[in-house]
Amino acid sequence: MLSIDSISISKGGKEILKDISLFVGPNEKIGLVGVNGAGKSTLLKIIAGKEESDLGNIYFNGTLSYLSQEIHKEMEGNISKELDIQENLTIGEYLILQRGLDIEEWEINKFLNNMNMKEKSSDSILRELSGGQKIKVELIRILSEKSNLLILDEPTNFLDIPSTEWLMGYLSTYPRAVLVVSHDLRLMNKSISKIWYLNDIRHNVDVYRGNYDDFIKQMSLKDELLVKTLKAQQMKAKRIYENAKALSSRGSTKEKMKAARKLELAQKEKLKAIEMAKGLVKSKKMKIEIPTPFNCSRNVLTVENISKEYIKGIPILRNVSFEVEKKEKIAIIGKNGVGKTTLLKILAGRLKQNKGKYTWGASVNLGYYSQEYEGLDYEQTVLENVYGLDWGEIDRRAFLGRFLLTGDMVNQKIKTLSGGEKTRLALAKLFAGRHNVLLLDEPTTYLDFDSQKILLSALKEYKGTILIVSHQPEFVRDLGIDKVLLMPDEKYGYFKEEYIERVGII
Ligand SMILES: Nc1ncnc2c1ncn2[C@@H]1O[C@H](COP(=O)(O)OP(=O)(O)OP(=O)(O)O)[C@@H](O)[C@H]1O
Ligand SMILES: [Mg+2]
Repeated sequence: MLSIDSISISKGGKEILKDISLFVGPNEKIGLVGVNGAGKSTLLKIIAGKEESDLGNIYFNGTLSYLSQEIHKEMEGNISKELDIQENLTIGEYLILQRGLDIEEWEINKFLNNMNMKEKSSDSILRELSGGQKIKVELIRILSEKSNLLILDEPTNFLDIPSTEWLMGYLSTYPRAVLVVSHDLRLMNKSISKIWYLNDIRHNVDVYRGNYDDFIKQMSLKDELLVKTLKAQQMKAKRIYENAKALSSRGSTKEKMKAARKLELAQKEKLKAIEMAKGLVKSKKMKIEIPTPFNCSRNVLTVENISKEYIKGIPILRNVSFEVEKKEKIAIIGKNGVGKTTLLKILAGRLKQNKGKYTWGASVNLGYYSQEYEGLDYEQTVLENVYGLDWGEIDRRAFLGRFLLTGDMVNQKIKTLSGGEKTRLALAKLFAGRHNVLLLDEPTTYLDFDSQKILLSALKEYKGTILIVSHQPEFVRDLGIDKVLLMPDEKYGYFKEEYIERVGII
């Protein structure tokens, strides 16, 4: 149905994709994996016709729908344009009238229900939805186009657990083809039957049958086999070399000539081994060590009866109260739209509450990480972005290097960085600040599997206080959370396993 023929592309003099040829059958469920910056989004954009490759062709017979990794930004454009024209546009009007979808109201309601938006319906006003909820509406739009090929670039980034779970089921039984990039392991295991692995060193794609776990097993078997053949090859080169040396020491001209030929052969076999060894080169990994934070008082934060409404009469936060002590790790848990981000923004001083107050303890030095990369100027380069910051004695280039922002990359404009690369820069800026309290709003979004693990262990080691919002139950569990603020009921207490499970059914 779709055939990719010898696609190549370079950017800023850097090879990204090299001579890639692939095929997608009518019902295939393919997961595209690779480290941050490997070029996954680039490949998807080329297939979706959003970007031109330098070389090669795409042949496609059918209809396709594409969800961009930057959906939150594009959506703002799409939906706000419609809202400018018609302020009280409903979800149904947006999808059916504005977007021309062949979908009934009951179907929209079913989608909304499945996406954990029971309280909303086709008649709900679009303007009153939270950012995450608007993204769900865009996802409903894309899914209900019923295309032959669904191309989804990190579709679960802005979804809560119930909707992610529903989407996993939906994709696995989608009657047509799906090509998806996701850093969500559960999705890659449940919905996928073939893996395209984009190798960031060779810049091409290897195809594996099965889901992500199968792929990992096959990869390690392949590595084991390669190590064996490599050893055999090295032995072979060594044997020939030793043989040649023995021959050349014998003295006869004939034997000397034979030895020279053997030496040449030994050299060739050695080069073969060097070439083979390249197959074992692994992608670089981040090395995060969060600098030791400055000390602070025992009472870190007191929140008293904070309330917030964006639109009069529609409260988002109602009398939120809790206290945080030094070194505690607090998770804020709840579905999309309950106001987790709103609460963090208020505490970070980015947004004003309507009622109530909060007090930070003495000598608190607050660091705030938001999913929207606040503080990254897209027109500036990586270096320009960190230049004016007070990083004390930290060597900027070396520090950025730990976050894999190396070489020419520091001169790249932020807008050209991949999602994961932007996240790594934002994290580098955050950690260089030596904050003793971190407010983290979904810090794992966009990070590849390895980087997520590395961030997790760095945060586990961190000696300061953490308030975190995350939709990843494994991450919250493994971080060693002390207390949980459950929203929207604002229950606050010591962490219990059942709270994590509760997230799924709220
Ligand atoms: N103008 C440019 N100059 C140099 N490099 C560029 C330019 N534009 C994009 N790149 C690089 O292309 C690479 C591929 O980006 P892409 O967004 O396709 O990666 P990705 O695999 O989707 O990563 P992620 O998992 O982080 O989303 C990145 O390393 C990015 O920095
Ligand atoms: Mg990407």
